[in-house]
Amino acid sequence: MDAGREGDVPSGTNDPKGEYVMVVGVAMTSELKGFYQLPLEERLKIVKEFAALSEKEVEILRGRGLELDQAQRMIENVIGTFELPFGVAVNFLINGRDYLIPMVIEEPSVVAAASNAAKSARPSGGFFTSSTDPVMIGQIQVVNVINPFVARLQLLEKKKEIIDVANAQDPVLVKFGGGCRDMEVRVLENGMVITHLLVDCRDAMGANAVNTMVEAVAPLIEEITGGRVYLRILSNLAKYRLARARVKYLREVIGEETVDGIVEAYEFARADPFRAATHNKGIMNGVSAVVLATGNDTRAVEAGAHAYASISGRYTSLTHWEKDETGNLVGSIEMPMAVGLVGGATKSHPVAQVAVKILQVKTAQELGEVIAAVGLAQNCAALRALATVGIQKGHMKLHAKNIAQMAGATGDLIEKVASQMVKEGKVRSDRAEEILKELKGK
Ligand code: MEV
Repeated sequence: MDAGREGDVPSGTNDPKGEYVMVVGVAMTSELKGFYQLPLEERLKIVKEFAALSEKEVEILRGRGLELDQAQRMIENVIGTFELPFGVAVNFLINGRDYLIPMVIEEPSVVAAASNAAKSARPSGGFFTSSTDPVMIGQIQVVNVINPFVARLQLLEKKKEIIDVANAQDPVLVKFGGGCRDMEVRVLENGMVITHLLVDCRDAMGANAVNTMVEAVAPLIEEITGGRVYLRILSNLAKYRLARARVKYLREVIGEETVDGIVEAYEFARADPFRAATHNKGIMNGVSAVVLATGNDTRAVEAGAHAYASISGRYTSLTHWEKDETGNLVGSIEMPMAVGLVGGATKSHPVAQVAVKILQVKTAQELGEVIAAVGLAQNCAALRALATVGIQKGHMKLHAKNIAQMAGATGDLIEKVASQMVKEGKVRSDRAEEILKELKGK
C-alpha cells in the first residue's frame, strides 16, 4: 500500500478546505496539525499507516536499529553504536505529492521549523523541484606533461577509447542506463592536466563506481599524455548532479513584514561570506538531517554544497529569496546532491531503510529533490525567525527540557522545571536546580 500517494486511498479523505481528516489513525496527507503534541506512540502509528510500515520496521524505529555485527561490517574497530533522535517533518507537499520527511539530528527546533515552513507553503501548492541527471565527476591528475595544452587535445581525441575502458568496469551500471557519459580535460595554471570522467551513477551515490573507473583509465591516460598520473578520485564538487527546488510564500499567509524581512536577511547572506556560512549552515540543518536519516554521506553533500556556494569565486548563499510582482515571497535553491538509494549504509543500515520507506522515493534523483526542498524550507524558517522574533524563543523549549534533565529532574518534573524556566526567560542549570528543589520541597 502506498498510502501517501494521491489516488491510492485506503480510508480517510481530504476535506473540501484541504485540511487533513484522519480516519482510524490513517493520515491521508502529510499535513498533520498538532502532530508534535501527540504522544510518541501515536506519532509512530500515523507514520506506520502513512508509509505502510511493518511491525518489524516499527520496532527498528523504537530503537532496535543497528546491531553490533552490522556495525562491525560498516567501519573498523567498532566498540558500540551511537544513537540520535529520528524525527519526522510534516506538511511537505512536493510536486503535488505529500511527503513525511525523516530527519536524524541532535539539534532542537530543526524538525519543527521545517514542518512550519512546509505548512506555510501549502496554500500556494508547496514545493516544485527538478534535477539534472545524476552525473558525478571523477578526476585524474597528470603531472610532468611537457605540452599540457597539446596533451589536453590528445586526450579529447581518444575520448571514446577512454570512456569505453571506464564503462567496461561497471557493466551493471551501464545496463541500468548509467555509466561514463562524457569527458572533459582542464589544464591548471601550474600545468597539471586534469581529466574529468562524467559518470551517470543512476541510483547510486557513485563513489565506488567513479573511483574504480578513474583508476582503470589511469594507465591509458599516462600513455596518451606521456605524463605521470597521481590522484584518481571523485570530486565532491558535483556540479553536474544538481537538485533544485522553488517555493512561493503568499504575502497574506506570512505577512508583508516577513516577506521584506526574509529578503533583507537573504541580501545580507548574498553580500557577506560571514553571514552566508551561517545561512548555508541553516540550510544544511535540513539537508544533512535527511541525508543522514537515509544513510547517505553527509560530508560528501556538505563539501559539495559549500564548494558550490563559492563556485562564482566568492562564497555566497545557496538560496535566493525575492519578492514577486504581487508582493509574495519566492524562494529557490540549487545545489549538488550526491545521494543514492542503492549501496552503502542506505542499504545496510536498518533505520536508513525505514527512512527511505517513509519517504517513498523511487529514485536517487527524487530523493535529492526532496532534500533540496527541505533545505529551502529550513532556510525560510530560519530567516523568518531571525527577521522577526529571533531564534532563541523556539530553541528554548526543548533546550530547557535538556537543562532540567541535566539538573536532575525526572518524569513530570522535567516539563514543570522547563516551563518555569521558559516563563521566566532564565534557561540555566543553576535556575533549574533551584526550581527543582522548590518543587521537590512542596
Ligand atoms: C542554527 O543551527 C541555524 C541558523 O543559525 C541558521 C541561520 O542563521 O540562518 C539559525
